[in-house]
Amino acid sequence: MNRKVTVVGGAGNVGATVARALADKELADVVIIDIAEQKAAGVALDLLEACPIEGSDSRVVGYGANDEGWRATAGSDVVVITSGVPRKPGMSRDDLLGINYKIMQSVTEQIVKYSPNTIIVPVANPLDAMCQAVYRLSRFSRERVIGMAGVLDSARMRTFIAMELNVSVENIHAFVLGGHGDTMVPLPRYSTVAGIPITELLSPERIDAISKRTARGGLEITELVGTSAWYAPGSATAEMVEAILKDKKKILPCSVFLQGEYGINDLFVGVPVKLGARGIEEIIQIKLTAEEDAALKKSAGAVKELTDVIKV
Ligand code: LAC
Repeated sequence: MNRKVTVVGGAGNVGATVARALADKELADVVIIDIAEQKAAGVALDLLEACPIEGSDSRVVGYGANDEGWRATAGSDVVVITSGVPRKPGMSRDDLLGINYKIMQSVTEQIVKYSPNTIIVPVANPLDAMCQAVYRLSRFSRERVIGMAGVLDSARMRTFIAMELNVSVENIHAFVLGGHGDTMVPLPRYSTVAGIPITELLSPERIDAISKRTARGGLEITELVGTSAWYAPGSATAEMVEAILKDKKKILPCSVFLQGEYGINDLFVGVPVKLGARGIEEIIQIKLTAEEDAALKKSAGAVKELTDVIKV
């Protein structure tokens, strides 16, 4: 294939799910890098062996996080970072801060060395702070560091709206802004069923319940499964990578470095952006009510507390 995507931490649950989605859709060759060297090779081989059945000629290879492995990533079009410690029950995303920051340092150095023109999609938590770390460490332009969170959060909201109204998820569009944490901001006014805002279809109480369930959607899975989610995060990441590789100009909520948009400066926060071959091609600004704006600012404040701790 003439496109290459590297998934760092690709032997883990989220990474392997991203790799699988990309290979199934024959979007690119996939290089899995993981500190678990043998597992990386095994997961890659397993995915490769699924390709004849899926009708895909994606070549999937797996390496340890060593020189040989990083060399194989050279010239990647997109690099997804799923490495990092996942949450255990009772652990917040923020608890992961210090551990995962160290991982971002070593990983980003290798990405910049071998794929200086790539687009990086960080997935590690705490998401927005890790994006900011990768952005600062890479010194890439802001168009080329795009965090995955909003696609996942809005997919969860779409799921809950579909369950509530017993309607196809394909009819549902949901909007979630802000940081990927307890302060995220679901926007019911902009969440629609076949174009109809859910504020016309559901009571404020039901909307509030859906919004609350969305905000703790990651925690709900962690409590049930005993570790972080991977199917929906993997699908969400693959949707972003596909939009970039195919230059789709798709508008998706992503964590991006704001420089005055929404009145927020020098901080990664989730907002709608247009994704294409150049990465972020436009930041879409929508009008917010005073209440929504206050919620977004509060969420940005929560991100800033974390970026201040790691000084990025
Ligand atoms: C979640 C984790 C990945 O939201 O943050 O499931």
